[in-house]
Amino acid sequence: MCGIIGYIGHKPATPFLVEGLTRLEYRGYDSSGIAVRNGDLEIHKCAGKITDLVSILPKKIEGTSGIAHTRWATHGPPSDVNAHPHCSVDGKIALVHNGIIENARVLRNRLEKEGVKLQSDTDSEALVHLIHREISNGSKPLTAVRRTLKRARGTWGLCVIFEDHDTIICARNGSPLVIGVGDGENWIASDTLPLQARTQQVIRLEDGVLAEVTSEGVKTSRFDGRYSDSNVTTLDEDWGEAELGDYPHFMLKEIYDQPEALRQCLTGRLDLKDGNARLGGLGLTPKQLQKIPHVRLLGCGTALLASQVGRLVIEQLARVPALAHVSSEFRHNDPVIENNALHFAVSQSGETADTLAAIKEIQLKGGEVRGVINVVGSTIARQCGKGCYIHSGPEQAVASTKAFTNMVAALTLFAIQIGRARSLSRTRGKQLVKALKKLPQLVESYLDNPGSIMDAVDALKDAKSVLFLGRGISAPVAREGALKLMEIAYIPCLAYPAGEMKHGPIALLEEGSPVVVVAPNDSLKDKTISSIHECRARGAKIILIHEEGDSIAEEADIAISVPSTDPILSPILTVLPLQLIAYHTALILDRDVDRPRNLAKSVTVE
Ligand code: F6R
Repeated sequence: MCGIIGYIGHKPATPFLVEGLTRLEYRGYDSSGIAVRNGDLEIHKCAGKITDLVSILPKKIEGTSGIAHTRWATHGPPSDVNAHPHCSVDGKIALVHNGIIENARVLRNRLEKEGVKLQSDTDSEALVHLIHREISNGSKPLTAVRRTLKRARGTWGLCVIFEDHDTIICARNGSPLVIGVGDGENWIASDTLPLQARTQQVIRLEDGVLAEVTSEGVKTSRFDGRYSDSNVTTLDEDWGEAELGDYPHFMLKEIYDQPEALRQCLTGRLDLKDGNARLGGLGLTPKQLQKIPHVRLLGCGTALLASQVGRLVIEQLARVPALAHVSSEFRHNDPVIENNALHFAVSQSGETADTLAAIKEIQLKGGEVRGVINVVGSTIARQCGKGCYIHSGPEQAVASTKAFTNMVAALTLFAIQIGRARSLSRTRGKQLVKALKKLPQLVESYLDNPGSIMDAVDALKDAKSVLFLGRGISAPVAREGALKLMEIAYIPCLAYPAGEMKHGPIALLEEGSPVVVVAPNDSLKDKTISSIHECRARGAKIILIHEEGDSIAEEADIAISVPSTDPILSPILTVLPLQLIAYHTALILDRDVDRPRNLAKSVTVE
């Protein structure tokens, strides 16, 4: 949710700023801009994608320090003036900001009363004028930013550059910022992706910390002026640079990454002999696992839906109550936190503000939270301290795919681990471990031969709306299919547990209405067949995701089969055709598959 980039050193800044913006574009892509210290501050910004910014940049911009921003609008629509950087009235200070200044209205009103002409509708702009005032009153850059932030309420990751000072001031409170440390040069970014090709040495700013970055070094301090240790760490997982290769879109690449991603998630965590799984990073002994009264999982969007699958798997295998919660609702409902309960925060990016807020609520009330996270060293991973990484590798497309399958896989590993500490038999454990080992190969074989995806696309592309149905463990899979189609093809979708359909959504069905049904070969299949009959009796067209060789295919207008597996693992296979259907439908409708409108990959505002 907004990406920030900065450079200060001895090389021209612009190439890195532009490249960095491109790497961070997934965080927001409604407008972008750069400010380079080139004698004066040279600022270029515009609404649109990074390519639009590149098209207005002069061929050469001298200057060896600069900051840049790619935006996801919160205050004020995407436009040239609302794009960052924002600039002081004399043009000598520029600021980029990720987060929300909650008291922006008060700050803006005061500035306007004092005669400052604000250029934009943003919450961020007020800050640059306040910094300018502090500088005019004789403050040094660091003090000016610190004093300004004392008047601000809200969240920020921000960078400020000054025409008259060879330094960049950074600050973090709730929105991530990482500083890449080099020799005679330093880089700044919202996450490590743009830094990996430049340096392995990074400082991850903590909340409440400011940094004064020059080409020679980085000095950090707390908002109250106290010293803060600038802990330099080595990037522990180098994903390299996410490249498209021969794929036209990251989403398709990431769908096809799934067999390898799954292997990475399972490697070293399965014990066939004991029919067990081990997630060492959770730091839980079998004794502790036996005492857990209930498990709660928290997530948003796809991570929430993976949690909904996970909670069913945990409950079934370990016979321990498990619930999945919407992170954005959690803390507002004043939840009761039991000391021994186990909480999981599930997140691909590890930066989702709603999930982070839910974690803090639990921790404040004395509970412990463990992360189920993709991005190593991310804010949520660090806030939790313990947990497990899902090892999907970089996910760039806004629509999450391989993170879903790996979240489900990781939660299944946990379900086996807690199950084995309780009542799950070794024999059943062994069956599951064997089935898990085979899974990457099954995913691969499905993706090599995905079946009638284009027939399904044909049935869906002109639909007014689409109903997705599934039962039990397939209900969240149906929701995930609906979410994917909705977010990238912009087709309104409704997802329901199949049995609930007759209590309302059935009223939507008319001749030709497309209904996507997820029905693996599990104990609920016959009930799902009844739901299919109810749909067909109202003229609906059934697109069915089923297990290969299953006669249920006869019930469908379009049947897409996935390989057979243990029913409890079926979500990892049944979700695949849904991902492909969403991708190809979006493509045929000429949507921007990797950068759907109004969305951002990493949602760092509540
Ligand atoms: C959907 C999607 C979003 C994210 C959600 C949580 O395809 O990508 O719904 O799943 O914003 O993001 P993370 O997992 O980073 O916390």
